[in-house]
Amino acid sequence: MVSSQYTIRIEPLGKEVTAKEEETVLEALRRQFYGRDGQPFFPGCRRGGCAYCKAELLKGKVDHHMIYSRAALPDEERNKNFILTCQSRPLSDLTLRLLKGVHRSPNNKNS
Ligand code: FES
Repeated sequence: MVSSQYTIRIEPLGKEVTAKEEETVLEALRRQFYGRDGQPFFPGCRRGGCAYCKAELLKGKVDHHMIYSRAALPDEERNKNFILTCQSRPLSDLTLRLLKGVHRSPNNKNS
């Protein structure tokens, strides 16, 4: 039976969230990461236009949505395993590095 949920590991924090098969990586992050444990709320467009959600995919596979701004994710970056989390759905467990909007200190307990 195919797994209906995947684990997304966020490096270098080591934080893990789970994604349902039908949701985007960003939807999973917004449910369980952004706005929690001292992390900022997510301010991006969620439509593939601003690049705020861009991440480096270190491990795993995603289904890229084909309709997004090539200014936000040029083909050269996509070929080097960068993704727009708002446009990508997990096809396996993932490890990624978020490029923007993350508090790196694990001791940041502001809430
Ligand atoms: S949130 Fe703007 S491109 Fe993903």
